[in-house]
Amino acid sequence: MSTELINRIDQIKAKLEAAAVATAEELETFRIKFIGSKNQIKDLYQELKSVPNDQKKDFGQKINALKQAAEEKFNGLKASLGGGDGKTGSNSAIDKSRPAEEIAFGSRHPLAMVRKEIIEIFGRIGFSVSEGPEIEDDWHNFSALNFPPEHPARDMQDTFFIQKAGEDEDRTKEMALRTHTSSVQVRVMEGEKPPIRTISPGRVYRNEAISARAHCFFHQVEGLYIDKDVSFADLKQTLLYFAQEMFGEKAQIRLRPSYFPFTEPSAEVDVSCTICNSKGCNVCKYTGWLEILGCGMVDPNVLESANIDPNEYSGFAFGMGIERIAQLKFRVSDLRMYSENDIRFLQQFKSTF
Ligand code: DAH
Repeated sequence: MSTELINRIDQIKAKLEAAAVATAEELETFRIKFIGSKNQIKDLYQELKSVPNDQKKDFGQKINALKQAAEEKFNGLKASLGGGDGKTGSNSAIDKSRPAEEIAFGSRHPLAMVRKEIIEIFGRIGFSVSEGPEIEDDWHNFSALNFPPEHPARDMQDTFFIQKAGEDEDRTKEMALRTHTSSVQVRVMEGEKPPIRTISPGRVYRNEAISARAHCFFHQVEGLYIDKDVSFADLKQTLLYFAQEMFGEKAQIRLRPSYFPFTEPSAEVDVSCTICNSKGCNVCKYTGWLEILGCGMVDPNVLESANIDPNEYSGFAFGMGIERIAQLKFRVSDLRMYSENDIRFLQQFKSTF
């Protein structure tokens, strides 16, 4: 009887030592065989009953040792499978020849691409980049830019006010979300001495109903050049250079007289329609021209507001909408698409930067 029991213990011990697992399933089989509620070692304890009393202790110790060896081996195997889930660890059944999961690459937002291109184009002719706050005071957004106190753009209809002055209070204390990046012009002029050659890209806000053609926030790039003897011809040539770099060397521009409080004279600039080659299409409304920006010679009042002597210096400024340039470049028909985060829209813009 005892010899038989010894043989059985030895057999189980040999099986235990030889056991190897490579997967979570095999580990589970091992567990059921040697550790689970109906395991083989447990049966041996039943056999103890028939062992002579003087040998019981000896056999009991042997079986206990076997039980412990089984548990240790199980823990070791489980650890080598990486916690027993069968997915990781050096011993797991990873198929190393399997092709990797495809990584979904993101794409640049079209507005970021156009913004970058504008910065590069002007960077090549010496324009630096400057930025200013989106929450702006009345002075930088309006007053220093020669907006008269009752100008309609200050109206609640157009501007998101954060802090509004009362009837008799000082208007210059008002705070608002900037309505244009022209505010950065003023900040640059206040902080730097001419010559100044800078562009200021950024987000602007207007209290407009959202539609395919208007949004309550959008992006602009402001340009400013101040030096001795800056002329309107310099402005025209700079804008022609920009249009040809952005829309191709065949692009032409035309300037129409316009009005802005901060420039005199002022103009609106059209670029020849790149969609129909100026033949006339529904995008250019059969005129052959597309409006892209506003510009002009910096008003002497604006220079004075920033303590720059208008008798010594002159300059030009311009402002364009990034959404508008992107719309013409990529033929985006609805402004809302820029901010809806529809992956089908965004995936169409592949870029290399
Ligand atoms: N700030 C103007 C706007 O938001 C754009 C603009 C027009 C900027 C003429 C300029 C400029 O610097 O000279 O509509």
